[in-house]
Amino acid sequence: MTVHFIGAGPGAPDLLTLRGRDIIASCPVCLYAGSLVPEAVLSHCPDGARIVNTAPLDLDQIIAEIQAAHQAGHDVARLHSGDLSVWSAMGEQMRRLRALDIPVSVTPGVPAFAAAAAALGAELTLPGIAQSVVLTRTPGRASSMPRGETLTNFAATGATLAIHLSIQNLDTVTADLTPAYGADCPVAVVYRASWPDQQIIRGTLGDIAARLGEDITRTALILVGPALAGEGFDESCLYAVDYDRRYRPQSADSPWSDWTPESEGTS
Ligand SMILES: C[S@@+](CC[C@H](N)C(=O)[O-])C[C@H]1O[C@@H](n2cnc3c(N)ncnc32)[C@H](O)[C@@H]1O
Repeated sequence: MTVHFIGAGPGAPDLLTLRGRDIIASCPVCLYAGSLVPEAVLSHCPDGARIVNTAPLDLDQIIAEIQAAHQAGHDVARLHSGDLSVWSAMGEQMRRLRALDIPVSVTPGVPAFAAAAAALGAELTLPGIAQSVVLTRTPGRASSMPRGETLTNFAATGATLAIHLSIQNLDTVTADLTPAYGADCPVAVVYRASWPDQQIIRGTLGDIAARLGEDITRTALILVGPALAGEGFDESCLYAVDYDRRYRPQSADSPWSDWTPESEGTS
């Protein structure tokens, strides 16, 4: 018996990995975080599966569900939105399961920041503009932020910021970021990326709050940084016509001139 943690993706039911789909189909028990996991993903569960929405449960109740499945010898598909590596609460469940000696596996999913970038048609790391993406959030009712992980600190890097769980704090976000990025810095808010009711609101740090209005209060990502302008960047060296590289040696003197995929690892 194994508990399979599966990233269920950002919302569109077909943004689920084939591996995730197949594991769901093989598990007689499915626990899903119903606040964000689309119900359509549950159509992959086998007939007669026990399907439990864990949104109203506490951690003890979730572990009790898993222990019951364990005693019955039933594999569990445990679905969380997006990917499991960020804000999934997988860590605390895994710690309990390890203590109980219950085996686990992890299958990644498409994270919300990637779905939001896709909706914008944006590369978040443009040469010469930004080469890092910071996945972060602002403090919430249930979660404080560790010292040092402040928006002003992250802003000092000039990186592209993907700010989660924070749409209700938009005024604070813009106030904290404007000194470093400037009021003209591009911002995009993507609401429910990949869902049928997806919305994109573009603006700047100076005007995004006014553009957003008051309708969007949750399940939105705030992307901030000069890379969102999608202009003024360098072309990458990787595809430059004269760039000497393993796959495209430029001369007989190139250190890569004798390289073939087969020679990799042999010398
Ligand atoms: C609890 S976190 C889950 C993050 C998830 N594990 C991931 O990999 O993206 C929930 C936050 O992620 C963001 N989010 C999740 N799904 C989203 C979507 N489809 N569109 C925009 N933002 C989303 C929102 O900021 C939301 O408040």
